[in-house]
Amino acid sequence: MSSLSRRNVLSLGVALGLVSAVGAVPAWAAETDPWWTWDDEVDRLMAGFLDGGQVPAINTAMRSWVDNDDPLPGGLPATLAAYLQQVNRLPSWADRTKLRLAADFNRRKDTYLFMLYGLGSGIMSTVIPREAKSVYWSAGGADMQDRAAKTFTFGYDLSDRNAFEPTGQFVVTANKTRLVHAAVRHLLPRSSHWQAVADEQVPISNGDILVTFHSLGTFVHRKLIEWHVPMSAADEEAFLHSWQVAIHLLGVRDEFIPKTWAAADAQSAQVLTPILSPSFEGKELAEDLLGLTAQIDLGVTRGFLNEFVRYVLSDQVGDWLQLPRDYAAAALIRTGWPAYIAFREGLLPVMPVGFSMFDQFIRAMAMLFLNKATSPTATLITIPTGNRPE
Ligand code: HEM
Repeated sequence: MSSLSRRNVLSLGVALGLVSAVGAVPAWAAETDPWWTWDDEVDRLMAGFLDGGQVPAINTAMRSWVDNDDPLPGGLPATLAAYLQQVNRLPSWADRTKLRLAADFNRRKDTYLFMLYGLGSGIMSTVIPREAKSVYWSAGGADMQDRAAKTFTFGYDLSDRNAFEPTGQFVVTANKTRLVHAAVRHLLPRSSHWQAVADEQVPISNGDILVTFHSLGTFVHRKLIEWHVPMSAADEEAFLHSWQVAIHLLGVRDEFIPKTWAAADAQSAQVLTPILSPSFEGKELAEDLLGLTAQIDLGVTRGFLNEFVRYVLSDQVGDWLQLPRDYAAAALIRTGWPAYIAFREGLLPVMPVGFSMFDQFIRAMAMLFLNKATSPTATLITIPTGNRPE
């Protein structure tokens, strides 16, 4: 184990409250390191399917597999069907009452969530170097619009009122994503471009998935608090629970999953904040993503959009991505956005200046999210068979 990963394990142990900051690396950590843990069983299966040319047939078979209570499709290799039979279900510790509350919370706060996942987490992913490099050099990197739409599907299905119910779709979406990640682990190491820029041999470890979770769930939760969006303690716990189940379904081992928001925040400060940095790939992806949002009428200028990204993610990130400044828009956001939220949440009696502009912006973002997520291609998460074309 490298000293860096050993330090990460120790940090993770501290964050999870499993070991004191001054203690030795505990036995469990020495044996199980999230940065050296992948998803062995499905990784092995998927490598065989890719080498054997079976993936196109699997993708065809998977098309009719959508709802949580759909039977597994016929036409899958027996080994894959047997594997999915085991994992295509909620973990034993899932609490359906909490998951139902999480769905209700997602519905009540959906406009903020779409905004934060889309402009916050989406753009943050471009300054998470390992993620940016994997996404850019994989097949999906060549068509970011399509890839963004598919990723939206994950957030959309997770946010759906029935997400975890038999008629919902999230368990299936998560399992399809788990298969895609397994394929990427086999394919990317065969990309000379990726090899030239990667600092790892196999992408998408459990540690990497935790990092991405912090850029999504942990980040959004922190922003909602920072923005004084009212949430009950039960709402917060339910929201965390839905993410705990989500990352379990993506193959993260239960012992690595933070148990509380405090543990998640501490882990995020250790494993996400220090690694954020720009890269060639990240800059290209950010430009693609912001171009995508600029294509529809959000009722705001591109300068406003750039400044909103800076407001949500910091000037540091804005500078890394070389987002041009628009100081008038920045001033408007700094005063107008908190007032907009306060008025919307019934905490301010008088409608603030700029209310309708912010309102149109937030609704248009939600529409972008919803349209993309419900478009016919978005629901088709497919297993890639190659990398970004050379
Ligand atoms: C694919 C979600 C973590 C890299 C996908 C897809 C989804 C998704 C929904 C399918 C989209 C498609 O079909 O194109 C997530 C979530 C994560 C996570 C929710 C964590 C909570 C990661 C991490 C990495 C990564 C940590 C890399 C460091 C990729 C790549 C693809 C992919 C390269 C395939 C793109 C393609 O070629 O189509 N992910 N992911 N993901 N993900 Fe993740």
